[in-house]
Formats: sequence, structure tokens, C-alpha cells
Amino acid sequence: MSATATETSTAAAAVDAPVATDVTFKILRFNPEFAPEAYWEEFVVSCFPTDRVLTALEKIKGEQDGSLTFRRSCGHGICGSDAMRINGKNRLACKTLIKDLKTSKAITVEAIKGLPQEKDLIVDMEPFFKAYREVMPFLVTEGHTPTREWIQSADDRAAFDDTTKCILCAACTTSCPVFWNDGQYFGPAAIVGAHRFIFDSRDDAAAERLQILNSQDGVWRCRTTFNCTEACPRGIQITDAIREVKKALMSTGG
Ligand code: SF4
Ligand code: F3S
Ligand code: FES
Repeated sequence: MSATATETSTAAAAVDAPVATDVTFKILRFNPEFAPEAYWEEFVVSCFPTDRVLTALEKIKGEQDGSLTFRRSCGHGICGSDAMRINGKNRLACKTLIKDLKTSKAITVEAIKGLPQEKDLIVDMEPFFKAYREVMPFLVTEGHTPTREWIQSADDRAAFDDTTKCILCAACTTSCPVFWNDGQYFGPAAIVGAHRFIFDSRDDAAAERLQILNSQDGVWRCRTTFNCTEACPRGIQITDAIREVKKALMSTGG
């Protein structure tokens, strides 16, 4: 007797159905109210290969230890709040699938490096945002704002299109060895923020921003190590943007 269409599709679905397995997460915990040093703690979570690391962290917090502390908001790679070091690399927990981590051992999760750790996976972002604010990340015009739409050619727009994609997650700056060694460096995210306006044909403050980045803590600190570009969850060509800022400075005699 031949199988019905329903029986065949049910059997195929059973063969293809993803299987949940126990995955060990090794998380660097820190709570200065109870202990001065950070320590590793392991949690075992039942995960599907297509689960995100953020889902696993939420399971741990909801089912095993409500004190586990981390930031997240959108859950979809937009808000930039859940950058963390997963298996030694900066990534967004909401965009990292368990199956892509390719590890048979525990998955390690730590706070991003180079900013003061406050609790578990949370760091103090203020030094990061301070550097960003200092590069004037806003349009500056000198009284020639049009009354209707502002015409900008496709080529003019393309000059800074890549750097408009930044979500200020800090994955780049906190993967930069220069920033680790010297928290004074503006860092790649601030330079990306400056680039977005320096190369905008409507803006009038490029010279001012370039001078800010020509300072002791500015672009010349970059050693072209590309960690920032590799870490960026938005795929921004950060090292190229930094090179363009350096080139603009050289062409103005900076
Ligand atoms: Fe995050 Fe990329 Fe922006 Fe850096 S440039 S803050 S890695 S989105
Ligand atoms: Fe740092 Fe990126 Fe330059 S990692 S050294 S800012 S290329
Ligand atoms: Fe918003 Fe991950 S939670 S980017």
C-alpha cells in the first residue's frame, strides 16, 4: 500500500526537524557589591542550532539566575545595545546564532573590553559616547538651509553612505588594541561618526572636525589593524573610512 501525501510530508518533517541540544555557556560574571574580581560561571541551556545567543541569555536569566545582567532592546541588530565578546570576538548577541559559533566546547560570553565593567556583561558606555559627542556628529550649516528639499547627487551621497549605517554598538572601538592600551584614543566609532558628516556635501564643519581628529588622540593613533572592520555587525568598512579621514587631513595640510 502506498503512503498518502500527508504521511509522506509528516515523515519528511520529522527527518528535517531541528533538534535541541544542551549547550554550555561560560559567562564572565562580575558584581562589585559582592566580590572585587570577575569570575567564570557555567550554565547549561537547551538550544536549537538556530537560537541566538541572546535567546540563551534570556533563558538563563528567566529560568536559572535572574541576577544575570546584560543590555538588549530591539533583538534585531538595530539598537546596538547588546555588543559582547562571544568566543573571544565582539558580536551582537541578537545576531549570533549558536550554529555559527562552530565550537564543541563551552561558548564563552564576556563584556566588551576597554570600558569600565559595571556588572556582568554591562560596561560604562560614557567614555565611548563622550568621544562620539566630541566629533560633532550632527549637520552644521552656515545659514544656507534651503526652504525645500536639499538636492544632493547620488555620487555626493555615496561618499558617506557606508558610515550612515552605524548603530553605535561599540563593537569596533572595544576591539581596537590602541583603544585597549590607551583609552584616550577617540576610537573607530567616533571617527566613523565624524566621517559621516565630513564627507556630507551639505555640511560646513568638516574643517573643524578634521582638526579635532588631527589631535594627539585622533586618527593618527590608528595602526590599521582592521579589528574594528572585522567586528562591525553592520559591515561598515571602518578602516577605509579612517584612511579617507587621514587622506582628507593630508590634503588640507593637517
Ligand atoms: Fe558598531 Fe560598526 Fe558603528 Fe562601530 S561602526 S559602533 S561596530 S555599528
Ligand atoms: Fe584600531 Fe581599527 Fe585602526 S582596530 S588600530 S581603529 S584599523
Ligand atoms: Fe538591539 Fe541586539 S538587541 S542590536
